[in-house]
Amino acid sequence: MSNKGLFITLEGVDGCGKSTQGSLLANALEATGREVVRLRDPGSARLSEKIRLILLDPANEDMCYECELLLYEAARAQMVRELIEPTLARGVTVVCDRFYDSTYAYQAAGRGLDARMIDEANKLGSCGVVPDATLVFDLAAEEALARATHEGADRLEGEGMRFQRRVREGYMQLAKAEPERVRVVDAVGTVEVVHARVVEALRDVVTL
Ligand SMILES: Nc1ncnc2c1ncn2[C@@H]1O[C@H](COP(=O)(O)OP(=O)(O)O)[C@@H](O)[C@H]1O
Ligand SMILES: [Mg+2]
Repeated sequence: MSNKGLFITLEGVDGCGKSTQGSLLANALEATGREVVRLRDPGSARLSEKIRLILLDPANEDMCYECELLLYEAARAQMVRELIEPTLARGVTVVCDRFYDSTYAYQAAGRGLDARMIDEANKLGSCGVVPDATLVFDLAAEEALARATHEGADRLEGEGMRFQRRVREGYMQLAKAEPERVRVVDAVGTVEVVHARVVEALRDVVTL
């Protein structure tokens, strides 16, 4: 697969800056003359967006953890087959907001589902496609939630905060297990400062 496009995924808790930095990264990649396709997981493909609505609908709060896991994997598989594989095969760069590392961080580290089972489910849902580089935007749970909700960090506490901390820790476990692929980016600082860290973190895969 010598003409294979570059596949970069963006990870981290809600509010850490994935969307902000994803746009800047896509712009920087395009400035080098590359064609870039931006995707989001769950979503992007028609069916995957339908599944996303089910996953994000507050009316579905009775959803069990196993159902949630399988819906994420189902949405991902459709996006991989329909969009990621064909796009990479054309030699086009893909920047994807979340991918299977989110499932590890949230469903295994966060919810406490068996990590080996999640790994197997992730292999199925990703159809074996592995990112060339994954950026984890690391931010204290309090700060990320404050950014995401525009509320004071001191108002955010309790189980929600403990869950976010476990998710953050899950991402750190992934970075430790796969240091070549999973790169931790300090998300503290201005948008420009964090972007400069992104450029640096990707230096071995692309010159920006
Ligand atoms: N470096 C930063 N410093 C302060 N606020 C930021 C920074 N990066 C993003 N934000 C803001 O924080 C909020 C969450 O950022 P966003 O990129 O949407 O995160 P995510 O996509 O990871 O949820 C947005 O309101 C965004 O404008
Ligand atoms: Mg976002």
